[in-house]
Amino acid sequence: MLIALGVTGGIGAYKAVEVARGLQKRGHEVVAVMTSSATRFVGAITFEAITQRRVITDQFEPGANADIEHIAIASTIDLLIIAPATANIIGKIANGISDDFLSTLYIATRAPVLVAPAMNTQMFAHEAVRRNLDTLAARGVRFVEPGEGYLACGWIGKGRLAEPDDIVAAAEAMLRPEGPLRGRRVLVTAGPTYEDLDPVRYLGNRSSGRMGFAIASEAARRGADVTLVAGPTTVDPPPVNQVVRVRGAEEMYRAVLSRAERMQVVIMAAAVADYAPAARAPQKVPKGGDTMTLVLKKTPDILAELGQRRVASGDGPLLVGFAAETEDVVARATAKREEKHADLIVANDVSRADAGCGVETNAVTIIGRNGVESLPVQSKTRIAAAILDRLEKLLSESPAKAGHYDRS
Ligand code: C5P
Repeated sequence: MLIALGVTGGIGAYKAVEVARGLQKRGHEVVAVMTSSATRFVGAITFEAITQRRVITDQFEPGANADIEHIAIASTIDLLIIAPATANIIGKIANGISDDFLSTLYIATRAPVLVAPAMNTQMFAHEAVRRNLDTLAARGVRFVEPGEGYLACGWIGKGRLAEPDDIVAAAEAMLRPEGPLRGRRVLVTAGPTYEDLDPVRYLGNRSSGRMGFAIASEAARRGADVTLVAGPTTVDPPPVNQVVRVRGAEEMYRAVLSRAERMQVVIMAAAVADYAPAARAPQKVPKGGDTMTLVLKKTPDILAELGQRRVASGDGPLLVGFAAETEDVVARATAKREEKHADLIVANDVSRADAGCGVETNAVTIIGRNGVESLPVQSKTRIAAAILDRLEKLLSESPAKAGHYDRS
């Protein structure tokens, strides 16, 4: 999505750089609009380098008006954020004054507006400011409350610009579609892992990533905040909040474990290698005798580790694992669910030509605590929808904190 980030002249202007970066990390494009006083706190060049776009600093900049993108910005943006918003810009937009690019953009756009006020405590409490904020709120403008703490002017109180992460989260909540998974943080792993033997060779598998991508995409469509941790794939990942690329099982382990605590759901659709070379040769291994022996070591079992942690703490995300089997599919997957302490295991018979790795379709059996449901062969998108239906049900049954683990 395209977001205009209005920056006004407050000491918190430097934090707006982090807001721009946070929005970009979540896949948005940002165009920075700076008031002239903002440029006295942070240089336009900083925003230009970060956003990779021309920064709009003046309504009447010679040359800029021939630039269609610049003129069209009011109708092309999906969201206007003003962070930090001084008492001055709040007063201007509340009263329809449009004497610079940013205040004019506010009048011209029909995109939703998010304002992060930042000013001295006394100013924030002043009736003039309160009234302007009320006027804007009544018009549908949303706010990220300023934080309390030491202000640049020496006061301790409310007025400091909210933290960039909170501003980014508020923007995401406004942009995210309504959906049953709205507000839920879901981590999905997808694709194979490549375990390097030497600088040119690796052990890998045939997973295309499509099943995990279909789940990530369907979860995003249902409004979830999706983090996708993907191994090396040739298929492009879908647009979700965050895509983290990894190569080997060890790297995937770190990427998942460092994020799992913040998640309500973790779905391990990746085909993680169970063994990796015990040591990676620093140089290409030369050809030798007729046979060659590789020494492998077990990789960390990510799902089992998450399951263990949840059993130990009694709390954690809902866990979904996959089980690719060629025989005794349901029995083995049922045992796997218990061993790894997962809520659901999605089992597929990878010996079938129309299911599992590398194809667009799948046929699975979903194994839960209370039963087994077999889904006939169908597109991976529809399988993803069925898995998420089951998850939504589990989330709605969970007590207060989603992901609470019932040890029974
Ligand atoms: O034990 P098995 O490899 O069959 O288990 C498959 C499930 O466990 C999948 O969900 C897979 O993503 C996950 N797994 C893992 N870490 C590993 C191996 C598998 O999380 N090292």
